[in-house]
Amino acid sequence: MEGVVRPYDLIRKKRDGGELSREEIAFLVEGFVRGDVPDYQVSAWLMAVYFRGMTDRETADLTLTMARSGRMLDLSGIPGVKVDKHSSGGVGDKTSLALVPLVAACGVVVPKMSGRGLGHTGGTLDKLESIPGLRTEVDVDAFLQQVRRVGCAIVGQSPELVPADKRLYALRDVTATVDSVPLIASSIMSKKVAGGADAIVLDVKTGSGAFMKRVEEALVLARTMVAIGSALGRRTVAVLTDMDQPLGHGVGNALEVREALDTLRANGPGDLTELCLELGSHMLRLAGRVATQEEGREALREAMRNGAGLRKFAEMVEAQGGDPSVVDRPERLPTAPVVLDVYSPEEGYVEALDAEAVGRVSMALGAGRARKEDAIDPAVGVVVEAKKGTRVRRGDILARVHARTEEAARAAASGLLEAYRFGPTPPALRPLVHAVVE
Ligand code: URA
Repeated sequence: MEGVVRPYDLIRKKRDGGELSREEIAFLVEGFVRGDVPDYQVSAWLMAVYFRGMTDRETADLTLTMARSGRMLDLSGIPGVKVDKHSSGGVGDKTSLALVPLVAACGVVVPKMSGRGLGHTGGTLDKLESIPGLRTEVDVDAFLQQVRRVGCAIVGQSPELVPADKRLYALRDVTATVDSVPLIASSIMSKKVAGGADAIVLDVKTGSGAFMKRVEEALVLARTMVAIGSALGRRTVAVLTDMDQPLGHGVGNALEVREALDTLRANGPGDLTELCLELGSHMLRLAGRVATQEEGREALREAMRNGAGLRKFAEMVEAQGGDPSVVDRPERLPTAPVVLDVYSPEEGYVEALDAEAVGRVSMALGAGRARKEDAIDPAVGVVVEAKKGTRVRRGDILARVHARTEEAARAAASGLLEAYRFGPTPPALRPLVHAVVE
């Protein structure tokens, strides 16, 4: 950069559709984190990015600048290729709970930092914490030790990593600049890059329960993240998967842990099991553990059949202070005092089951937060029995509500009925995997 640079000039350049250099992006972001560039100028720049977008080169530079704003983990001392996984968030998405130990049981190291629930979607950390005693707030050194010893960990994002994202996200949240592809992509990828894995598998959700409702939007996000990954030397695959109805049956923290345990026992719902095989086989392939996806699927199926994935889950839980006996005795997980069945008011086929609406019902029961400081109720949630395409008669059970009070259960039941739509003929079913971007 030549001469005196002012944030004003960089805001104007982006506002007018220009491309910022690496130094210019670093000037703004590093200045913001140091407190030299004020909120109002960064807000204006974010809005300019929202409208003008960024080139792939700018997005990669923004990602690296953000990643370098805090500690960058060095996992090179841990043998093998380390593979991370990320989901863009959905309803009933308990995939990481089963997938992380399953892949680790196949001999690939998975160091995973996860998030909490956001909006109508649940968070992996909240789900895991329904296991009595389990800690997800562990410091970076304990995380690294566990990854080395156990082969996997699922912990909260360390505040030492990517402070720039925390500050930028808070600003985006209040300036209507969250839903910008380069800003979402750099936010997610900066955390993956700072997390130190060599390869990354991204599960980009699309449909009524996802943040990206349309396949085309999700594809743009997936391509942008894969481009960032390759620009920064991380082997990255993005799988676009369906989130038009909840994944599996359980929506709510302990209910989802139970379903993840069933999946590790080779007894889980078909869609969740298939998603674990799809994402897991990419993870094993990127790590060089298998040559083909089919070989990867077989290794994962075997780790379900022979209990290796379940044992790895118990090992991970114990390493994080949790009670590993829940693996064999899931009844030790918290349970809700009120269980209410929801019956079908009509005869026909389930034509649609709005995932976002189910997520909101579960949140209102207490499984998610309306405000940041709200406590989570681990026991409550919804189990959807009748999914899209199911033929039902009047009075058949559609879903089961797990609630703290009768009143909450009744409110949830009427919310669930609104999430269902019925039709006279079998609906066209959407594929679980819409596309793979590599
Ligand atoms: N998740 C993130 O981590 N960042 C975003 O910007 C959006 C979703």
